[in-house]
Amino acid sequence: MASKFFPAVPRVGRQFTRQLPRPQFRPFSAAPQRFSDALQVHRNTPGNNPSIPFKFSEQNNQLIEEIIARYPPQYKKAAVMPLLDLGQRQHGFTSISVMNEVARILEMPPMRVYEVATFYTMYNRDPVGKYFVQLCTTTPCQLGGCGSDKIVKAITEHLGITPGHTTEDGLFTFIEVECLGACVNAPMVQINDDYYEDLTPESIKQLLTALKDSAATASGQTKIPAPGPMSGRDTCENSAGLTNLQNPVWDPETMMRKDGALDGEAAQAQ
Ligand code: FES
Repeated sequence: MASKFFPAVPRVGRQFTRQLPRPQFRPFSAAPQRFSDALQVHRNTPGNNPSIPFKFSEQNNQLIEEIIARYPPQYKKAAVMPLLDLGQRQHGFTSISVMNEVARILEMPPMRVYEVATFYTMYNRDPVGKYFVQLCTTTPCQLGGCGSDKIVKAITEHLGITPGHTTEDGLFTFIEVECLGACVNAPMVQINDDYYEDLTPESIKQLLTALKDSAATASGQTKIPAPGPMSGRDTCENSAGLTNLQNPVWDPETMMRKDGALDGEAAQAQ
């Protein structure tokens, strides 16, 4: 109705707004803000900028050749994830120089490599401590055993850091992560490449103390608990013991007549 009685007003308004100067920038992303521990964009820092050289070691170069040989030559960019992983293991984190080197080797636009490295949270784009403590706080771990909330509290008290931070001595970085696929042994934590499961506040503190002691003694005399369940279970068997499959299973050999049994019965009948 307004445009019928005052047809000029909206048109004038549109013309006026079109003439206004437009901002000469585009935001990097229109996605909603992510409340994560990691910054989703790269910012040059003295320890992480493209002018810092990075080259793979001789041993890793051999591995890279083997990895690339698994893919058709025209699809060698499919090797981007294992190469980024190798770079992270060698350098300690996936720096911009690691990503650029992977892009060079695989002849990919660097942006494609950045996209992969920023999508998967396993690539640490900032340095982490010697022990990277990733505690699962997804629902099964929050509800299973003593619950991951108690483990968060225990780690925070023991290390003196909250999730998303590194201890001052650079030994531990602590973050919360989503399900790591070991829900049946909840609550659990991944430290570097190992899973420690069936945690209690006491056992996680013991574990962290053992790791700290072992880092302090160069000879590695401190005994670090073996990865796996810390409750005494072997794997994920029922901690209450065997509750089913206690009788011999049915099988045709035991339950059916043996060969020749019919002949004997027939002879008796005669
Ligand atoms: S919910 Fe923690 S491992 Fe699955």
